[in-house]
Amino acid sequence: MPEPLPNVTAVSVAAQQSHGGIPFPLVLACQTPNTTLAATTAWIESHRSELEEQLAVHGALLFRGFPLATPQDFDAFIGGFGYPNFPYKDSLSNAVRTNFTERVFSANEAPADVTIYLHHEMAQTPIYPSKLLFFCEQAAETGGATPLCRSDILYEQLAERCPDFLNACETKGLRYTNVMPSLDDPASGMGRSWQSTFRRETREEAEARMRELGYTWEWLDDGCLRATTPRLQAVREVAPGRKSFFNQLIAAFKGWKDSRNDPSKAMTLGDGTPLDRDAVMLAAELAEALTFDVPWQNGDVALVDNYIVMHARRTFTGKRKILASLVAAEAATVS
Ligand code: FE2
Repeated sequence: MPEPLPNVTAVSVAAQQSHGGIPFPLVLACQTPNTTLAATTAWIESHRSELEEQLAVHGALLFRGFPLATPQDFDAFIGGFGYPNFPYKDSLSNAVRTNFTERVFSANEAPADVTIYLHHEMAQTPIYPSKLLFFCEQAAETGGATPLCRSDILYEQLAERCPDFLNACETKGLRYTNVMPSLDDPASGMGRSWQSTFRRETREEAEARMRELGYTWEWLDDGCLRATTPRLQAVREVAPGRKSFFNQLIAAFKGWKDSRNDPSKAMTLGDGTPLDRDAVMLAAELAEALTFDVPWQNGDVALVDNYIVMHARRTFTGKRKILASLVAAEAATVS
């Protein structure tokens, strides 16, 4: 006999935001003690379309109180949604990560004292996921929240506060430049080697891949690669009349800093002209004010619409194990 499905209700949490009367994020708590993983995944399967609608409206869902403890449990939970997987190895992400299952891997392994700023996952590359899932296997001792920000609300605020800047981003798009090492550098939040990033062993093969993707590049004396993306969109229409500030502008401007990278050289508008620095700082301030910090408890899962919501990582102390999984989407560039 199949087990009874758990009873799940929307609850409020401290510091939860509300935009136009819509809570952000939507927190769905399991009210059935001792429910099983099988019953949990059956509940997801039977509520797929409702969850999909809620995700589109709220931008992010936080699941709490479900019986998840391991990467394998998280994998089974994700399976309930039936999403197509986006394997990390296929991505052009610049973070160093470790895979636990085919679709579950560690979130960015940058050191605990490194802040990762708000971004849409892989919006600095032509290939990015449509959704992300995060799982808290072990919450940090202090800090380590995952900030989430409604980027469609940010777009509305930018349209009011700095319309010229927003218009330039929207019409011209953005180009990103970063320097990749020749060996993975786990000490950096953007330390993935060029071989791993492009999944090619030799320079010639990497160049062929970059040509396919529309990148330009320069080889540096120390074996590093400076690569510049094609023109990528900076704004995305997520529904008719609803747009989001879909890019990596804040993260690149504030955080693309390591022994190889200087954030002031990380980005230009799509036509090569510089960005308005004051406007970028304002965008970062507005985004911070719109941010909800996910207060991780062990077993929590967050489902994030990558087109609507940005995410980040606060610094932390102690051991923190947050796992991630990505959902595939189609590639797109500004033509
Ligand atoms: Fe990320």
